[in-house]
Amino acid sequence: MAGNLTFGIIKPDAVSAGNAGHIIQRITDSGFRIRALKLLQITLKQAESFYAVHRERPFFPGLTEFMSSGPCVVMALEKEAAVKGWRDLMGATDPAKADDGTLRKEFGGSLSENAVHGSDSDENAATEISYFFSQIEMI
Ligand code: RTP
Ligand code: MG
Repeated sequence: MAGNLTFGIIKPDAVSAGNAGHIIQRITDSGFRIRALKLLQITLKQAESFYAVHRERPFFPGLTEFMSSGPCVVMALEKEAAVKGWRDLMGATDPAKADDGTLRKEFGGSLSENAVHGSDSDENAATEISYFFSQIEMI
């Protein structure tokens, strides 16, 4: 299947709750092709770099501490209109406001610990994929 790329993270809350497999199943059932995937634990410094756009926000220290608190699964996902498709599957940032059938509704615990991340533009998708994957890791 041809398409374009987005970048996703199954966040530490969802991995530690044992939901990574369920979420990956939902991703492939939704027509995404997994181009790259790995389990890793990022450092606080790496989380600060990844979320640098939010560094002035009050939730930044909590967000970066949470994202470095345990293993997460990082993924490059391919589908037609992948950025929008993946954000639609994730649902609203706050799981309490997410639509039925979305990953954050089903697996997210709170606004801060909301199970998944997704790129918000094609440009950021390319940047985020290259932050986590080298060319030879892309299938
Ligand atoms: P993400 O970047 O993780 O895919 O989430 P998003 O685009 O839906 O939301 P964004 O505004 O980019 O926020 C990034 C992450 O920061 C945490 N957050 N906490 N406590 C708070 O007020 C708050 N607001 C945002 C969430 O983990 C959110 O996903
Ligand atoms: Mg975002």
